[in-house]
Amino acid sequence: MNAAIRAVVRAGTHLGWEVFGVKHGYAGLINGEMIKLGNRDVGGIMQLGGTFLGSARCPEFRTEDGRQRALRELNLLDIEALVVIGGNGSQTGSYELNKMGFPVFGVASTIDNDLFGSDITIGVDTALNIALEAIDRLKVTASSHQRAFVIEVMGRDCGYLALMSGLAGGAEAIVIPEFETDPEEIGAVIQSAYRRGKAHALIVVAEGAKHNAATLVDYFTKNEKALGFSVRATTLGHVQRGGAPGAYDRILATRLGAGAVLALKDGNAGVLAGMIHGQVVYTPLEEVVKTKKQLDLGLFELSKVMEL
Ligand code: F6P
Repeated sequence: MNAAIRAVVRAGTHLGWEVFGVKHGYAGLINGEMIKLGNRDVGGIMQLGGTFLGSARCPEFRTEDGRQRALRELNLLDIEALVVIGGNGSQTGSYELNKMGFPVFGVASTIDNDLFGSDITIGVDTALNIALEAIDRLKVTASSHQRAFVIEVMGRDCGYLALMSGLAGGAEAIVIPEFETDPEEIGAVIQSAYRRGKAHALIVVAEGAKHNAATLVDYFTKNEKALGFSVRATTLGHVQRGGAPGAYDRILATRLGAGAVLALKDGNAGVLAGMIHGQVVYTPLEEVVKTKKQLDLGLFELSKVMEL
């Protein structure tokens, strides 16, 4: 997010505009927490995770009253347009504010990669690499002890991070919300992996799956004798967030932040700047918030072959 903020500021000042940063997301917008940002203010932030402006979940912005308060604050400072860096929740706010006549431009950013209008969103690649590092480390212990490991990764209701980190980490089983698998089935997959001579078994599960780490471990522990293997669980949780962004994310954020400014310059309000087939593409916010992004289940099929 910091790289995206930097890009918005610098692309904006390049056009001779004044740029303000909103502290703490929509909560700060409602409270008028806006600070003028110059090029030097956004120096040295690109390599830092998170956002130096702060972020917040803001239920108040879901209400008409909350958004009216935000509009008043924007008008007080003569702000003419808003760039919103975020995922589904944030872009739903963008859509609502834009509908009220205030020009809003979205920038696709969430580690979950569940936002329609961008093949990949800011933060995904970095979060994926953090999950992968954890999986690689757990594999070492799993192999040495011939154990099974359940690793739960974030992603809200979307299985993208679990699927991709499972594929990249060589998991024996991947559990995602888009394709529910019973614990009995996973147990059989792991037994079969051991029979085929594997020294370890890694099960990567998405936090949003019906059978998440807690349910799976409960089942495996209760049936340890019959299954013939013992299991350990690791929930990565927020460790997956906050890491220093990798090159891919910095470049993506720079292109999308600058892309939002270009849309603003062209007066093309109410769109999300996303990356599709390697190009910055603008998708109407209405389409973004009303369309569910589909996970490529072909990759799930591929993971089944790779588990062999
Ligand atoms: O949307 C990003 C995300 O990290 C999800 O993967 C996760 O479910 C959620 O946010 C956690 O939210 P919070 O930090 O508010 O608990």
